[in-house]
Amino acid sequence: MTAAIAPPEASRDDTVLDISGLVRHFTGPAGTVRAVDGVSLSIGRGEIVGLVGESGSGKSTVGRCAVRLDRPTAGSVTINGRDVTRLSKRALRPLRKDFHLVFQDPSSSLDPRMTVGAIVAQPLRLHRLASGDALRDRVATLLAQVGLRPELARRRPHELSGGQRQRVSIARALSVDPQLLVADEPTSALDVSVQASVLNLLVDLQRERHFGCLFITHDLAAVEYLADRIAVMYLGQLVEQAPAAELFADPKHPYTQALLSAAPVPNPAAQRSRARIVLSGELPSPLDPPGGCRFHTRCPLAVDRCRTEPPALRRLAEGGGRQVSCHLVADDGTAPDAAAPCPVTINRP
Ligand SMILES: Nc1ncnc2c1ncn2[C@@H]1O[C@H](COP(=O)(O)OP(=O)(O)OP(=O)(O)O)[C@@H](O)[C@H]1O
Ligand SMILES: [Mg+2]
Repeated sequence: MTAAIAPPEASRDDTVLDISGLVRHFTGPAGTVRAVDGVSLSIGRGEIVGLVGESGSGKSTVGRCAVRLDRPTAGSVTINGRDVTRLSKRALRPLRKDFHLVFQDPSSSLDPRMTVGAIVAQPLRLHRLASGDALRDRVATLLAQVGLRPELARRRPHELSGGQRQRVSIARALSVDPQLLVADEPTSALDVSVQASVLNLLVDLQRERHFGCLFITHDLAAVEYLADRIAVMYLGQLVEQAPAAELFADPKHPYTQALLSAAPVPNPAAQRSRARIVLSGELPSPLDPPGGCRFHTRCPLAVDRCRTEPPALRRLAEGGGRQVSCHLVADDGTAPDAAAPCPVTINRP
């Protein structure tokens, strides 16, 4: 195969990932699961975007579509200015080195029959980027960069600890210097005692190499620490997106407020001043999402309009370019507090 690597069409701007109107529905015997229903998100070079939301909200589906492990029902995914949504597998192959996914569970994503060295070397071989001594050197350097001793190259995945295995999958993902890394809960399968070191490793490598990163997690403390921007997902849609510091300081969407109120904060004074918002019920089924605002069935602030009219994701008049989809948040950013809902609505004639 002599596929030439196309020049990056988007060198004029700094966007490495642009997801636009992404829809992914799964149709089965029970009906259509609307896992992702119109998500737009972009990531710049060197930027870490955190994607958070309850289990089942569609985060992994967005991540899988972003690296073309899954194909969207509608919408588009553009990586480095190339629309990869409808490229054939063959056309995609030379581009694959630009984007990688690090999975939650490294054991399932590493071939147990291969040695660590062969696993890390594989993408470099596939893309014919190195061979022979140069390849061996690259692998040794990569292992050192992820903090693994060189002799581990001869071991197989089952001989390593969980944290070491995840370091191997990070080394493999970064071996070809990707522009985009999607990390889907990369530490949640690991022992708590090694989670921080693997997170720190990812952050250090990202600062050094400036790849764009979509970081999917349940760990709000982790995204607060490492993400530049955070996108909050609820039932297949984004409800809020803002620079990390702004989102944590002043969440606008009632769902974001609830999500953050349930997370431990390092500062006890802040914890005391922040009332815990307990959402009623479970995430509704994506087989039959509520009409109007999808969050209205659990929102302590919902009014009639929320039950009938789906709110659009709007950009607020704030410097950071925050986006919110809630009827109750004003364009100037004035937002109600879901922890202190006003139970009485006075309708004047
Ligand atoms: N291949 C599939 N076939 C059918 N339904 C699917 C498929 N993949 C995902 N889903 C459904 O799509 C919805 C979103 O799933 P997804 O895995 O993206 O959520 P998530 O936010 O990553 O959850 P978690 O935090 O638990 O990892 C869920 O209801 C899930 O059951
Ligand atoms: Mg997931």
